[in-house]
Amino acid sequence: MTNPVIDCLMNHRSVRRYSSKPIEPDKLETILTAGTRAATAGNLQFYSFVVVDDDEKKKELDRAWKPKAVFISKAPVVIIALVDQYRVRRWLELHSERDIHNNRPINFFLGIWDALIALQNMVVAAESFGMGTCYIGSILEMNIAEILGVPKHVFPAGLVCIGYPEATPKLSIRLPLDAVVHRNSYRMPTDDDINRWYAERDKVWDKVSEERKEKLKGQNIHSIADSLAVQRYSAEVTEQRSRGILDNLRRSEFDLTDTA
Ligand SMILES: Cc1cc2nc3c(=O)[nH]c(=O)nc-3n(C[C@H](O)[C@H](O)[C@H](O)COP(=O)(O)O)c2cc1C
Repeated sequence: MTNPVIDCLMNHRSVRRYSSKPIEPDKLETILTAGTRAATAGNLQFYSFVVVDDDEKKKELDRAWKPKAVFISKAPVVIIALVDQYRVRRWLELHSERDIHNNRPINFFLGIWDALIALQNMVVAAESFGMGTCYIGSILEMNIAEILGVPKHVFPAGLVCIGYPEATPKLSIRLPLDAVVHRNSYRMPTDDDINRWYAERDKVWDKVSEERKEKLKGQNIHSIADSLAVQRYSAEVTEQRSRGILDNLRRSEFDLTDTA
């Protein structure tokens, strides 16, 4: 079963190298408009998008991401999706005497939904024009008050790089549908299920060169699971990567605590 939209979705791959072909302004406008046509909570559009095409600003994003990264700055266009409860609050304040409470979990999480649903629409629109895209999760950790000058009640939701691909990367693997789809209620997977579903990922270890394996063994890493545990899920990495997010939360003055 297919059609042009399904074809486009099935062919998604993250593109991290871009050709020198610029993004046409009219196509960019269509991509942004397609984003705003997505469903949005209460039709209130709790988001803003910062389109970054200035080289200096892109380099600043690279530096904020990783000291040696050059990937964001190589993309012709970067779109940053923000949860924006500032704009709607100001509108209400201008026209109502009532107190506005819009910095609580409901406002935050609906804002995240709104911003990311619209951003993914933009990704699909860009890919339908033959462009390549790549999300960068680290926008959550970057100091967006400093880099983008956002006011309170604004929080980073997502960043996507867009450009025409230099080459077409391989389609990446996915878990079988069985692993991710539950019918009517959550069915607890057995350990055998989990081992079966992740077998393809475990096998990636076999493709690691002997030289690299030797180095990793020095860090007590003997499998893909070990390497994820150390490089992504150690207490230090988790804490360090959460720090910037918590700083952004504090600056944004969203209050996600239980005040009951
Ligand atoms: C929330 C999120 C954060 C991501 N962050 C990064 C990133 O920081 N750097 C990167 O190179 N790719 C990033 N990606 C892209 C994923 O690595 C990619 O989607 C995944 O490996 C699957 O590959 P595919 O998109 O080609 O199918 C991110 C994707 C998502 C959805």
